[in-house]
Amino acid sequence: MFMADFKSFKAFIFLLLLLLFNTGILAKEEEAEVIAELKKQEEDSQPFVGLNIGTEVSDLLSPKDLVSFLQLQKITHIRLYDANSDILRALAHTKIRVIVGVPNNQLLAIGSSNTTAATWIERNVVDFYPETLISAISVGDEVLTTVPSSAPILLPAIESLYNALVASNLHTLIKISTPHAASIVLDPFPPSQAFFNQTLTPIIIPLLQFLSRTGSPLMMNLYPYYVFMQNKGVVPLENSLFKPLTPSKEMVDPNTLLHYTNVLDAMVDAAYFSMKNLNITDVVVLVTESGWPSHGDSKEPFATIDNADTYNSNLIKHVYDRTGTPFHPEITSSVYIYELFNEDLITTPLSEANWGLFYGNSTPVYLLHVSGSGSFLAKDTTNQTYCVVMDGVDTKSLQAALDWACGPGRSNCSEIQPGENCYQPNNVKNHASYAFDSYYQKAGRTVWSCDFKGVAMITTTDPSHGKCIFPGSKKEVNNTKMESPSSNTTSEAQSRLMGDVNWRTA
Ligand SMILES: *[C@@H]1O[C@H](CO)[C@@H](O)[C@H](O)[C@H]1NC(C)=O
Ligand SMILES: *[C@@H]1O[C@H](CO)[C@@H](O)[C@H](O)[C@H]1NC(C)=O
Ligand SMILES: *[C@@H]1O[C@H](CO)[C@@H](O)[C@H](O)[C@H]1NC(C)=O
Ligand SMILES: *[C@@H]1O[C@H](CO)[C@@H](O)[C@H](O)[C@H]1NC(C)=O
Ligand SMILES: *[C@@H]1O[C@H](CO)[C@@H](O)[C@H](O)[C@H]1NC(C)=O
Ligand SMILES: *[C@@H]1O[C@H](CO)[C@@H](O)[C@H](O)[C@H]1NC(C)=O
Ligand SMILES: *[C@@H]1O[C@H](CO)[C@@H](O)[C@H](O)[C@H]1NC(C)=O
Repeated sequence: MFMADFKSFKAFIFLLLLLLFNTGILAKEEEAEVIAELKKQEEDSQPFVGLNIGTEVSDLLSPKDLVSFLQLQKITHIRLYDANSDILRALAHTKIRVIVGVPNNQLLAIGSSNTTAATWIERNVVDFYPETLISAISVGDEVLTTVPSSAPILLPAIESLYNALVASNLHTLIKISTPHAASIVLDPFPPSQAFFNQTLTPIIIPLLQFLSRTGSPLMMNLYPYYVFMQNKGVVPLENSLFKPLTPSKEMVDPNTLLHYTNVLDAMVDAAYFSMKNLNITDVVVLVTESGWPSHGDSKEPFATIDNADTYNSNLIKHVYDRTGTPFHPEITSSVYIYELFNEDLITTPLSEANWGLFYGNSTPVYLLHVSGSGSFLAKDTTNQTYCVVMDGVDTKSLQAALDWACGPGRSNCSEIQPGENCYQPNNVKNHASYAFDSYYQKAGRTVWSCDFKGVAMITTTDPSHGKCIFPGSKKEVNNTKMESPSSNTTSEAQSRLMGDVNWRTA
């Protein structure tokens, strides 16, 4: 498979360099430089999660604030739908990599004139690179399906832009491709039977040959949400949301016997099989859009915060797990989530304005559950997040987690002792929330410090109540002297609650 070839090619280069060092052809400083470069390339080739930034937002952050926000959220890859010069300028000297876009309405001009293409590259790429790390150019968006009349001009436009990149010697640093809708792939399930719409192959074949020749990715916008909505009853919701499946619900491809546990992997493999049908086996799929809406009208009952949170959280984990797809376990596609901000200026359908992880002013629409994925998207800009008990978990798991938090976890549990401010209501749920939050705040509010084997969750709602002020809360303690604690605090119920574990002296 081509990835294996790629790896052995790398190994070959490495051996070659080793040989050069040993024969003294490369000096020591050069050696260090080469190793640093190899390391950098290794990092660059790791799969990542990026964010699409649409700007139909009424209260969009200024470019400078936008960049600060991206840095705070540890977002390292973004895609723009145009080449907004203010944003590109604000991104200068950051480590954020950006895909710039050629809007569909500029294709005709660029595809019919090499000079126009050269000017576009000059103004939107050369003027910013390398201060701004432009990683790729996406030429048009879903052209074959949304503006078929521009289809014949698509490849000429890409080639003209590529030639301009070559002229500036940027063609090895900046990739160029065009994002497609999933609907160009027909019969995607089972993936091994998928093929490109034959009406489009006269355009797709030379395009794929270009991508293969230039080492560029096939850009695909893949939405399990729409697959689920269009095939209700056939495609299970769990499967669309990357939830664990019972083996009986896994899709098995009868031709390859590959097991599919989620819809996105099946869609990616359908693209690989479609390319294979055209004898193209060395082009990697890059998912330029994927996501789930958090709100919709009555016709979109599955556009909910819970489903959006589950899909995007699991998607992020799936990419960072680097398990590839059943057909290509050695290749994990990078994914750009659609999208960073709710685009409130888009009016119909309602769900269209609700794909964002954040509102335009950067408050989160919901908090992702991405423990284990580093600090990516982990921070809330208000700095006011708390860790509390998740709804619907059983008391036994909760008690075990509480014992751990107040014991080995060294949470400060003094406030939930009998008679103290957070003792009431006297139940495991209340006490565990306090203990979890104490642990989470002490650990610096990292996502992975709010898990407790899956019984805890992060919230932006301050759980403080009455005199009980939770760790991390900015609420003032009411200093009015409280009445002294009653004497009956070491009740039987309480002894049962505390269990045998001596966690009071943690
Ligand atoms: C653009 O340049 C390419 C390569 O130099 C050439 O083959 C092509 O005919 C030119 N296109 C136009 C529209 O001038
Ligand atoms: C294939 O593409 C053509 C041209 O865009 C379109 O008219 C046709 O509906 C597509 N076929 C299917 C099955 O989607
Ligand atoms: C792919 O390769 C096979 C075998 O070499 C050949 O028969 C077939 O025509 C090729 N298909 C295309 C679309 O080039
Ligand atoms: C959030 O915390 C960071 C670092 O602790 C700090 O720099 C920033 O000013 C805080 N923001 C708010 C809104 O409190
Ligand atoms: C534990 O919390 C209480 C109440 O907030 C505080 O007075 C006490 O100093 C804390 N103890 C430690 C060891 O931090
Ligand atoms: C503090 O507590 C006292 C007595 O419970 C109450 O009367 C007073 O309004 C409280 N003050 C604030 C600021 O909540
Ligand atoms: C003390 O016991 C009485 C009677 O059993 C009960 O009504 C009251 O709520 C208890 N007080 C506390 C603080 O647990």
